[in-house]
Amino acid sequence: MGNICVLDHPLIQHKLALIRDENTSSKEFRSLVEEVAMLMAYEVTRDFPLEEVEVQTPVALAKAKKIAGRKVALVPILRAGLGMVDGMLKLIPAAKVGHIGLYRDHETLKPVEYYCKMPTDVKKRDIILIDPMLATGGSAVAAISFIKNRGAKNIKLMCLIAAPEGISAVRESHPDVDIFVAAVDERLNEHAYIVPGLGDAGDRLFGTK
Ligand code: PRP
Ligand code: URA
Repeated sequence: MGNICVLDHPLIQHKLALIRDENTSSKEFRSLVEEVAMLMAYEVTRDFPLEEVEVQTPVALAKAKKIAGRKVALVPILRAGLGMVDGMLKLIPAAKVGHIGLYRDHETLKPVEYYCKMPTDVKKRDIILIDPMLATGGSAVAAISFIKNRGAKNIKLMCLIAAPEGISAVRESHPDVDIFVAAVDERLNEHAYIVPGLGDAGDRLFGTK
């Protein structure tokens, strides 16, 4: 079974409190989401293997360590996942970026796919799927299935806020996927919004509504 890891670093928690605040403007919301994504990337990449290398410093030869040829693809779920890409690319600049377009149908609450473009060598890459919200889990479960159908095997899911229902759904359908979140909230409301959550992540990021 995949791990669920709650990233409780004080900087992440402090910024998440500001992100949740309904008085935070879209401009601030966007920069905070980017900053938290960068901090989370630090933890999500903790298990990357290192190899020993030798580096000539101005003084002497040093034994040092470098990441051992890891190929990474970041895959945001559109739209709201886009808000986390730039922060992560600051720490993993060589990552390729794939995109999956999904929206939740407001009536059925089921995810509807409208776009998918992956790096050509996606099979060989470690995938970090990113979306601020894991609510019913329908979008994440569908996105992971799309990526697996294209041959990728090593997939991690990174979200800001998860509902217990979403975590269970992902673990049930994709038990091999590790989940990284900044917070696990109480529950979903009757519209499948996370309570207390942060509202509609896409609307708050892009100022729609
Ligand atoms: C939000 C969010 C997730 C999804 C989570 O996207 O960014 O993708 O809902 O809900 P689920 O776990 O119940 O599937 P939304 O469908 O609102 O689309 P948007 O990002 O385009 O606003
Ligand atoms: N999508 C959001 O943007 N917010 C929620 O609370 C649930 C799904």
